[in-house]
Amino acid sequence: MKSLGFAVTTSHRVKPVLVEYAKQIAGELETRYVERNDRSIEALSAELGVEGMVVVKSKKVSFVSRAGEFFFHPGIAGPRINELKNGKTDQMIDAMSIKPGNSVLDCTLGLGTDAIVASYTVGNSGRVVGLENSPVIAYLVKSGLASYPVADGDTFTAMRRVEVVQADHRDYLRTLPAGSFDVIYFDPMFRLPGRRSPAINNLRALADPEPLDRETINLAVKIANKRVVVKERRGSAEFGRLGFEKIQGGRYAPVVYGVINCQGL
Ligand SMILES: C[S@@+](CC[C@H](N)C(=O)[O-])C[C@H]1O[C@@H](n2cnc3c(N)ncnc32)[C@H](O)[C@@H]1O
Repeated sequence: MKSLGFAVTTSHRVKPVLVEYAKQIAGELETRYVERNDRSIEALSAELGVEGMVVVKSKKVSFVSRAGEFFFHPGIAGPRINELKNGKTDQMIDAMSIKPGNSVLDCTLGLGTDAIVASYTVGNSGRVVGLENSPVIAYLVKSGLASYPVADGDTFTAMRRVEVVQADHRDYLRTLPAGSFDVIYFDPMFRLPGRRSPAINNLRALADPEPLDRETINLAVKIANKRVVVKERRGSAEFGRLGFEKIQGGRYAPVVYGVINCQGL
């Protein structure tokens, strides 16, 4: 993944506490803190020769670039958890076939929406680890999952339980012994821009756009106890290329899930 040029600054309303926080984030992300000095983000980015800026405001930390603003929010995780509570089917959970106590490795964390829903399903006795290759996405989502206020207690605890690791899943998977997770899940960036939710499109400027490779899926199949699941567009040639024969999902849903059953392999 090509590394992205960025620095950290504050909102126009500069307070000492924000400056300290911005410096701390710059340290963690191994980049520069730059005083805002009333400059626009566009002017600041041009001056520094970077693609965007992490902007620290009193209630929000976001990444601002020409592509727009990216910040953490739980998206449709809450409504999906409510549907599950009402006994409805969630196609991703169905494809994962997970239950309380199971462990899930989400290899493409993104905004963490899918990881939150998986975390609700596996509960306190289960475990969800989310891998994210982009340092900025990993940082914003890790701190958002730990601090974003939500009213619903189940969504709140599901968010707090997700463990975020900044890593390329291709490297991380190579470190895992067989049987480390029940389910290994992938939701790569789609090849066609604009076909995803606005939230995912805002993430695009930061995200790792690489397609999955067959070697990664083969490795995941050796590690998972139960299933390897990939989310893709209905009819995508990716399923065949990656070795998925079984496809699950809603009858008319534009997005479906490729499933490899690992039991007995
Ligand atoms: C489509 S988004 C995932 C959305 C996520 N399922 C959600 O519910 O918000 C794909 C994410 O995977 C990340 N990604 C892509 N390749 C990766 C890799 N090799 N290792 C770790 N993360 C990766 C991208 O940076 C991006 O944030």
